[in-house]
Amino acid sequence: MSPDDLMAGRTGRHCLALPSNRLGLYLALRHWCAPGQRLLMSPISADEILFLVLAAGLRPVIAPLSPADGNIDPGAVDLDAVDAVLTTNLYGLPDRVAAFAGKPVIEDVAHAIETTVDGRPLGTFGVAGIYSLSKHPGAGSGGVIAVEHESDLRTLERERDRLLLPRAFLGEVHSVLTSMARHAALRLRLVRPALRLSRSLGLEEEREGYRIAPRPDDVRLALKQVPDLPAFDSWVQADLHDYRTRRSRLSCWYQSRRLRALSGQRERRIAGVRLLAELPTAAAAVRDHRDQPLFRVPLLVSDRDAAVAELERHGVATGYLYDPPYDDYLPEFTEASPAPAVARWWGRHVLPIDPLYARRALPVVRSLAPAPPVSP
Ligand SMILES: Cc1ncc(COP(=O)(O)O)c(C=O)c1O
Repeated sequence: MSPDDLMAGRTGRHCLALPSNRLGLYLALRHWCAPGQRLLMSPISADEILFLVLAAGLRPVIAPLSPADGNIDPGAVDLDAVDAVLTTNLYGLPDRVAAFAGKPVIEDVAHAIETTVDGRPLGTFGVAGIYSLSKHPGAGSGGVIAVEHESDLRTLERERDRLLLPRAFLGEVHSVLTSMARHAALRLRLVRPALRLSRSLGLEEEREGYRIAPRPDDVRLALKQVPDLPAFDSWVQADLHDYRTRRSRLSCWYQSRRLRALSGQRERRIAGVRLLAELPTAAAAVRDHRDQPLFRVPLLVSDRDAAVAELERHGVATGYLYDPPYDDYLPEFTEASPAPAVARWWGRHVLPIDPLYARRALPVVRSLAPAPPVSP
């Protein structure tokens, strides 16, 4: 069964397979929003997401965040001042999507393929949910967009096909083999040599701190062409240069295999969440979601960067750090949050731990000092 069929079975929605989540986010932003509209979004998300929003010709309106979960604080936003909402569901903790009723909500469920709210999968509450197969499933790449109406899916499919680049089979073999090697390295505690190798092979994007170089002069030029995705390729392709390359049956087979394996990991993931939820550093919302197979468990610690280095020495790699928030990263192209303190605090202090490796991380994380209280 293909990944889109498997996801249709899980969500009960119409699903379309994609080479990445980020291509699906762009398709959804173009389909449900018009250029010039204002999009409410979190400033704590992957680098490429901000550039997708700009590529779609939208104005990123940066939301205040809740200290409990690092998602949009719905009580602190003026919904009347925006046209649509993009949720993040950071590390799998659910955004309060019901609070955005009345606006089109596009759910980025890259981190939340396994999260349910009242038994219903995240990604089925908004007009579209976009999953990433490189996160929980660990398939190296791949995405699926899930929508309520088949007519929307047909339009999205035509747009997808217009944006897809031709297949590159050797690149695909390389991507599947690299993904398999990563899983083996993790199992064998070879994280440090694997990280060194992937850095020396140029598999990881060069970063200034945790973000790719913003290049504001180039953004200004690219903005002259919006809405247009290729003009933003050099940013959007971060860590996934083939994000809009057509895939063959090889990727389809690998993605489906990894998706089917998720149910077998579920209990282990929840056990890891429960273990980490006991730590005094766990973000408050983790305690309310101990029954959920989260993507990562966010801890809020005093010296995050030292903890990342220590974890690496113990065979635990840390990723998915989004610092600084978008309105500090590219202030000229965003509408700044009226209350940026919580986002800065999350960006600086969050330490996301893979619950599948909770026991391996525990000797390091159990003694970490908590982050200082957030100051407004
Ligand atoms: C929150 C979030 N959304 C979207 C993406 C993009 O997913 P993909 O790599 O499948 O395009 C990422 C990737 O890291 C992410 O962390």
